Amino acid sequence: MSASTRVALATSVSGLAWDTDLPLLLEALRARGLDAVAALWDAPDFDWSRCAAVVIRSTWGYEQRLPEYLAWADAVQGVTRLDNPAWLVRWNTDKRYLGELAGRGVPVVPTRFIAPGEDVVLPGHGQFVVKPAVSAGARGAARYTQDLHEKAAAHIAALHAAGSTAMVQPYLTRIDEGERALVFLGGSFSHAVRKGPVLTGIGTVDDDRVPHPGLVGHLPSATELALAEAALAAVPGSPGLLHARVDIATADDGTPVVMELELVEPNLFMGHSEHGPARFTDLVQERAR
Ligand SMILES: Nc1ncnc2c1ncn2[C@@H]1O[C@H](COP(=O)(O)OP(=O)(O)O)[C@@H](O)[C@H]1O
Ligand SMILES: [Mg+2]
Repeated sequence: MSASTRVALATSVSGLAWDTDLPLLLEALRARGLDAVAALWDAPDFDWSRCAAVVIRSTWGYEQRLPEYLAWADAVQGVTRLDNPAWLVRWNTDKRYLGELAGRGVPVVPTRFIAPGEDVVLPGHGQFVVKPAVSAGARGAARYTQDLHEKAAAHIAALHAAGSTAMVQPYLTRIDEGERALVFLGGSFSHAVRKGPVLTGIGTVDDDRVPHPGLVGHLPSATELALAEAALAAVPGSPGLLHARVDIATADDGTPVVMELELVEPNLFMGHSEHGPARFTDLVQERAR
């Protein structure tokens, strides 16, 4: 690997504007003499094959163009090193993987997946959440009370009309205590943050919600760490992913459960980690072709 080794961090227009990790990671990579660039994933003229490594970062908005995005990941992987790998991007962009994790004994938020054409069954008590199986930034998600079954059913019908599978979950009220995001680099725990609840309103889909309200640093408990490690161990395929984030919430009985695994384009909250950017750079250097 020469001093002019090119490394691309794949992003998006909104990523360029809002991804606070991006400048920290570019700076850390460049400090090692790498030719690090931020590249729009959908730029028509960017030559990915000239890169010794491509790391997916803030390719936000991909969920609205999933087939195109998955084809892009396959194409990049065909010409260079891509992290995380394309097959994993395919697996992790559809939250039906939560069902697989549950099947492997990992505690996850209890979830009913309702595909287009399937019977709509809503919980008979308590508040609940409806959200699409392919989503990010809480888009297309809403929280309902028992008196809003009709509205919730219309929400599911709209998701189905758009070809989406709907997810129905109990609303975890203890999310008010904070959802924890544990960041792993190269398969090892790096740092964690805690954030406030996102679905504060009831009965409305609002796609302009703040995705990570009230962020603070967090020292995970041994139970949280064990859950995150068990969740990552249950991911099919190669261990030691360049980056991974495990989001954990607390169930009503007090046990931690996986809300989601963020293995595609997670915010890594690098501003909350002193060593994170350097560790990320070590891993990119090891992997670059
Ligand atoms: N079952 C739930 N109970 C409580 N809050 C939820 C639930 N599902 C989602 N939320 C809230 O909505 C946010 C986004 O949902 P999530 O499943 O993480 O999807 P994504 O982050 O991919 O959009 C969560 O961070 C959480 O604040
Ligand atoms: Mg989330």
